[in-house]
Amino acid sequence: MAEPVTAGSEDLVLAGLTKKYGDFAAVDALDLTVPSGSFFALLGPSGCGKTTTLRMVAGLEVPTAGTVTLAGEDITRLKPYRRPVNTVFQSYALFPHLTIRDNVAFGPRRKGVSKREAAAEVNRMLDLVELGEYAGRKPAQLSGGQQQRVALARALINHPQVLLLDEPLGALDLKLRRQMQLELKRIQIDVGLTFIHVTHDQEEAMTMADTVAVMNQGRIEQMGAPEELYDLPRTTFVANFLGRSNLVAGSVTGTAGEEVSVQLDGGTVTAPVERAATAEGKVWVGVRPEKVHLKPAGDPAGGRGNELRDAVVSDVSFAGVSTEYVVRLPSGQELMVFEQNHTSQRRLHSGDRVDLTWAPEHTFLLDAAQDASAGTQFDDE
Ligand SMILES: Nc1ncnc2c1ncn2[C@@H]1O[C@H](COP(=O)(O)OP(=O)(O)O)[C@@H](O)[C@H]1O
Ligand SMILES: [Mg+2]
Repeated sequence: MAEPVTAGSEDLVLAGLTKKYGDFAAVDALDLTVPSGSFFALLGPSGCGKTTTLRMVAGLEVPTAGTVTLAGEDITRLKPYRRPVNTVFQSYALFPHLTIRDNVAFGPRRKGVSKREAAAEVNRMLDLVELGEYAGRKPAQLSGGQQQRVALARALINHPQVLLLDEPLGALDLKLRRQMQLELKRIQIDVGLTFIHVTHDQEEAMTMADTVAVMNQGRIEQMGAPEELYDLPRTTFVANFLGRSNLVAGSVTGTAGEEVSVQLDGGTVTAPVERAATAEGKVWVGVRPEKVHLKPAGDPAGGRGNELRDAVVSDVSFAGVSTEYVVRLPSGQELMVFEQNHTSQRRLHSGDRVDLTWAPEHTFLLDAAQDASAGTQFDDE
């Protein structure tokens, strides 16, 4: 859980931060507190305003409105080089003619530190990113992942309070990406600085960050620990962009004690009242695909509270550890169901008649005024 914000803390605070290009707000009155020392992910689809936000924090872009405050100091108008902030970009932007050692020494050298004086710190940084033995090489003699680590060392040697990483792993292939995700996380824990990691990859954000802020159209939709966001999305965009969700149209019929009852096509389900973003009128009933279980139609065994009857399996795909089913409700709506492949389990086939069950505590309710397909159009990114 994030610590509560206290006055005079070391946090980075963005308040009402706005960047307009003509009439278009690339960043739209954004409010965000990044806890000091955290690995913070800013997650959102391409074009949602992530880079523009980072550039305003770095001082490379002047906000149209709002403030950037770091450790209690308003830095909104401070020149970039006066800010205790460094950026690592997707393109490593190393100096090709300089050795790795001299690339890393660049910041201290520019501040007038001699090569000799800088040497110990350069070595320390190269050890941190595990490139000590490559100090004498040129960038072109390193792999993409190694070059990215040099870029990281070159930023960290300046001892910024905040390190900004703009899609730093975007140019790497999948395997190297996974490796570098672990590396980056280790380095962040080692140095204990605030890392703001921008990515459009939800898996990357969830595996690396302590806190994830989901951004959409220039605003923060929801922020929290990865598990919290996944477990209880508060908007349809978050429900679809972070993992996958089934959203079924329903109408609230009442609240009894701690439970909200919802009528939908094919049955009545309940959800805990604290999992209802709205508990009146029309809602989207949400449940993650792996929380739903299938049983042969009419089989009374193994119900888990919420139940939808008389569905038909319309597609089955075997994915090794799990099987992914598409199941059609009587209304025609199709839901995703992911079942773990336990040996004891009987496989279902296309055309089988099934009932769906899931526990009320895995149900969430969202405002039906929101577009149920928000956040789904980015699956191929
Ligand atoms: N200099 C600019 N002039 C006009 N529009 C811009 C400019 N920079 C960015 N934008 C627009 O602002 C939006 C957000 O861009 P950006 O912050 O780069 O998004 P992201 O990094 O999330 O992909 C995009 O629609 C982009 O086209
Ligand atoms: Mg960008």
